[in-house]
Amino acid sequence: MSSNQADVAAREFATAVMIGLSDHPRWLPCRFLYDERGSRLFDAICETPEYYLTRTESSILAASAADIRDLTGPVTLIELGSGSSRKTGHLLAAYSNHARSVHYVPVDVSEAALRTGSAAMSVAYPAVRVTGIHGTYDAAFPLLGELSPAMLVFLGSTVGNFNQTEAARFWSDVAAHLVPGDFVLLGVDLVKDPGLITAAYNDVAGHSAEFTRNVFHRMNRELGAGLDLGQIDHVAGYNPEWQRIEIFARFACEQTVHLRPLGRDVRVRAGERIMTEISRKFVLDELEQYLASFGFELRQVFTDDRRWFAVLLLQVPRRA
Ligand code: TRP
Repeated sequence: MSSNQADVAAREFATAVMIGLSDHPRWLPCRFLYDERGSRLFDAICETPEYYLTRTESSILAASAADIRDLTGPVTLIELGSGSSRKTGHLLAAYSNHARSVHYVPVDVSEAALRTGSAAMSVAYPAVRVTGIHGTYDAAFPLLGELSPAMLVFLGSTVGNFNQTEAARFWSDVAAHLVPGDFVLLGVDLVKDPGLITAAYNDVAGHSAEFTRNVFHRMNRELGAGLDLGQIDHVAGYNPEWQRIEIFARFACEQTVHLRPLGRDVRVRAGERIMTEISRKFVLDELEQYLASFGFELRQVFTDDRRWFAVLLLQVPRRA
């Protein structure tokens, strides 16, 4: 990144922080959690005994990749928020079993994660040609038409991190850009015993807490925020009414957040909470109906024995 690009990125970050911290209740956009350090911390969360999501989704993909390949035929795989790409390896293995070459297009906001993930997939699956895109999901939408026949891969229940407005915008964008006949492979965490869900976001080793603090770590580094991270606590609890985990950073004492690129300060009082992430949990029938309202047809649901997690294969209907 040139220093000019870094300035632009810092101003954008500072502006997003200013907007979120000026709101009531205060919040921060979750994409800023995922810089290089954040992506590494997230990988550590995925390996904790409490965080069943990654392990369960990975086993579903391992068991169903060949079926998914049979249902879609040869397609370009475009993955949003690819991170380490590790789980996607199961798909790439199945798709490259049947074709001389497979095109994989991972999209991620963390350039470091994108580079490492892409390199690992190229080495593990020589038949796979990787075109990484460094950017937000929006960067991928205009390409969907050109990459058809395609399957948009969106794993990790990341769709649960959208609020209602963001989700509706996301699905109408996807529906508008995918070509009829193309597919979406969607991984979602399902509603279950709240104790299991809550534990997944409060691992004993403390990686979840460190991950929540990472956005402030980044603010210190990139915005000169000057925060004492030892005075910021991670609070994550299940809201049964909204069927979602709500994750906050709670300030143990009053602190001033300096936003150097803007020359502005924000004061956060002792005990105040800043929402850093929500993670919705889904009920399959409701989700199927919701997706149908955007025109997606459910082709198949793959799940685990305990029905903790599901991978949905959706298709944009071909025009009659
Ligand atoms: N996409 C992840 C999820 O919804 C994000 C996540 C997992 C997360 N653990 C976290 C975000 C802890 C903040 C803090 O499961």
